[in-house]
Amino acid sequence: MLEFDVSYARPFLPANWLSSRLDGLTEARQLLENGEGLGGEFTGWVDLPRSYDREEVHRVLQTARIIRRQSEVLIVVGIGGSYLGARALLELLTSPNYNLTCRRSPQIFFTGNTLSSDAMTELLDYVQDKDFSVNVVSKSGSTTESAIAFFLFRQLLEEKYGREGARDRIFVTTDRTEGTLRALANQEGYATFSIPRDIGGRYSVLTPAGLLPLAVAGVEISGILDGAAAAMARLRRPGQDNPAWQYAAARNALYDQGKTIEILAGYEPHLRAFGEWWKQLFGESEGKDGKGVFPASVEFTTDLHSMGQYIQEGKRDLFETVVRFTIPQSSCLLDPAPEDPSGLGYLRGRDLRFVNEQARQGTVLAHVAGGVPNLLLTVPERTPHWAGQLVYFFEYACGLSGYLSGVNPFNQPGVEAYKTNMFALLGKPGYEQ
Ligand code: PA5
Repeated sequence: MLEFDVSYARPFLPANWLSSRLDGLTEARQLLENGEGLGGEFTGWVDLPRSYDREEVHRVLQTARIIRRQSEVLIVVGIGGSYLGARALLELLTSPNYNLTCRRSPQIFFTGNTLSSDAMTELLDYVQDKDFSVNVVSKSGSTTESAIAFFLFRQLLEEKYGREGARDRIFVTTDRTEGTLRALANQEGYATFSIPRDIGGRYSVLTPAGLLPLAVAGVEISGILDGAAAAMARLRRPGQDNPAWQYAAARNALYDQGKTIEILAGYEPHLRAFGEWWKQLFGESEGKDGKGVFPASVEFTTDLHSMGQYIQEGKRDLFETVVRFTIPQSSCLLDPAPEDPSGLGYLRGRDLRFVNEQARQGTVLAHVAGGVPNLLLTVPERTPHWAGQLVYFFEYACGLSGYLSGVNPFNQPGVEAYKTNMFALLGKPGYEQ
């Protein structure tokens, strides 16, 4: 199981940080489990690791094989919850340099997540002379960024392969029956996958929204689902030993102590994109009604040389949650002679992994001494099983935490404000006022 350790935050917490929140957590759990809380119609993800559509996952695997056979590049079009989960697990389970290191799988590029014409043109140019396929992911089917990107890549596919050929290279992940994208897919006869109605974007990584790109990369998606199921079985059991309860209570208690910014920190570059997924999960779920911990993320040790100063000595409104993997996947032995001019002779016989771990321990001590509480989440291995556990842990803790702070963790009304202004400026019909 994942291990959650609060000991480096204890000096900052009142003695009753957990006991005083047990009633609130019991109620939050009930709301979550029974779908009776605010946004309860979007709690389909709670039981998903057990109830997912086996037939659809089988089709995801079949389709991934087709895409792998026919494509040098897979373009994944989507934004927010319709791409961050896939990217997070792709980088976590393969490499942040996946596109350089993939040998037997297509390169995977994520687009439709900006409105930058430079970024778009660059990618359109890149695939011009490559065999590529497109997986467009949008639950609503009408998000502007992804609709524009899909329009452009569909156009390029049709130019390259004709309308018939393009049809074999377009894979649509959207609502089962509704939305512009579903209607287009039905009209054109594209292969489709569904995001269940009761699962919102940021909780959708274990649906085809995340699973199809991951399967194309050769990630063992059954391992992810098994891991999520194991975490589900553990975390749905109530009680103060439950690590999701502890995490939700600790961050809620730290917030009450004025620690309003949480930094997710990892010591593996593989966690960088995971930090982006995690920020959306907590930021969009909790940041409302004038409340919410502000989620930030850093990658150590690199950011110790950029953000380290602020974390150590800046405004004391921070706490850190460190994700640590214990079992290495590789070894990198350092073997300088004692008199080596690098001055690194003192590391002779050490593995780089050991050095990284000492950096982690040294950083925790320094940051705690500097007034930054540290929460520690220990994950055994960077494997599909443990990635599934990690995803479910954060999703479940986020649901609990949202209810504990009295907000609806499953809506995002604030996201509409920029869209309304943008549509008015663009002259979209219906937005004239
Ligand atoms: O979590 C969410 O609901 C959002 O981030 C959405 O995923 C994002 O806005 C994209 O929406 P859609 O999948 O409808 O294109």
